[in-house]
Amino acid sequence: MTRITVTVDGAKYSDDVEPRTLLVHYLRETLGKVGTVVGCDTSNCGACTVHLDGRSVKSCNVLAVQVDGHEVTTIEGLATEAGLHPMQESFHEHHALQCGYCTPGMIMQAIDVLNTHPDPTEEQIRLGLEGNLCRCTGYHNIVKAVAAAAKAPGAAAVSSSKVGD
Ligand code: FES
Ligand code: FES
Repeated sequence: MTRITVTVDGAKYSDDVEPRTLLVHYLRETLGKVGTVVGCDTSNCGACTVHLDGRSVKSCNVLAVQVDGHEVTTIEGLATEAGLHPMQESFHEHHALQCGYCTPGMIMQAIDVLNTHPDPTEEQIRLGLEGNLCRCTGYHNIVKAVAAAAKAPGAAAVSSSKVGD
């Protein structure tokens, strides 16, 4: 076992993990952050996307030991007492989900897209989300939601800024 210390959604955790433990399993099984989901375990679907030091990563593609000393933000760290994150609001308003399984990862990736492209074209949104699969929506409303969120104050906020609060 290896001791790691990591900040997740603004709280600091120290835990012993096996060197082979994936970040997504650490988040779900050790920390109970089940808002981050597993769709494939093979880096294909993006359902497990979280932010690591403010940039999106597929957490099934990262070992827990690799986040020692770093900051992770999950879908559970986006909302504040003031309400949902603007990207969450926009997904809600634009009906950008059906079953919702892809949604946590899709939202985390969508925020990363706006961090890279604050005023994105439709093509930039589609390219930015190409690693996140949705089997329900046909993507149309997801793209609309991200485009609308780009106009909302705070939608492109790097979520790690919340971590340090
Ligand atoms: S569960 Fe990580 S990419 Fe599918
Ligand atoms: S809403 Fe069902 S997989 Fe995307």
